[in-house]
Amino acid sequence: MSQTSLSQDEAKRRAAARAVEFVRPGMKLGLGTGSTAAMFVDLLGRQVRDGLDIVGVPTSERTRAQAAELGIPLSSLDETPELDLTVDGADEFDSRLRLIKGGGGALLREKIVAAASARMIVIADSSKEVAILGRFPLPVEVDRFGLESTRRHVERAVADGGMTGAVTLRKAPGGHAFVTDGGHCILDCALGAIVDPEGLAARLVAIPGVVEHGLFLGLATTVIIAAASGLRIISAPT
Ligand code: 5RP
Repeated sequence: MSQTSLSQDEAKRRAAARAVEFVRPGMKLGLGTGSTAAMFVDLLGRQVRDGLDIVGVPTSERTRAQAAELGIPLSSLDETPELDLTVDGADEFDSRLRLIKGGGGALLREKIVAAASARMIVIADSSKEVAILGRFPLPVEVDRFGLESTRRHVERAVADGGMTGAVTLRKAPGGHAFVTDGGHCILDCALGAIVDPEGLAARLVAIPGVVEHGLFLGLATTVIIAAASGLRIISAPT
């Protein structure tokens, strides 16, 4: 395959394959959600079939079903509260390994699992790399109670941070509100550029109806980026 003809799927698969090399026997692994993470889970399943001894904690019901189908031994954070490594995708990342996640609606469990892990490896194709986060609409998971009040609070938090952009309720394909595994809704914030992600994160968590937001700050330790020119790995300073 020539350098220019690497498809996005092939790039994702290469990043996933590189992440598998970080897995060691006996590890307790967080299993991410999304198309890139699914490729990692698929490759991990093959290794388990060949005798690799690991246990996985899925970040969504979708990933749980996939991993169970592949015969990957599964656990929960109640049984296994501390994990060695989580491998997950991202919707965006910057050079400081700050992420936007939640495009697949799994951000709450993804963040809980990442926070329970000693390391978080993000796998992505190069289209996810940005100079400034915010091109991808920021998902914010909110309780269904008081939804419109919470949406207005989120709008104000965005405005207080000097940003403008629509804050809209995510819809499922049938037209009804998208509901997360935790039974919540998602507000997507089309901000364009988030110059101060830490400031916005602080404003969002202060809103009572906000369950969690898709800014992952200080959680990723490594990003594996696949492009037509090859793989690139960036790591947080230790
Ligand atoms: C799900 C996520 C995903 O990791 C993110 O949306 C990336 O997905 P994909 O690998 O399909 O591009 O955060 O909540």
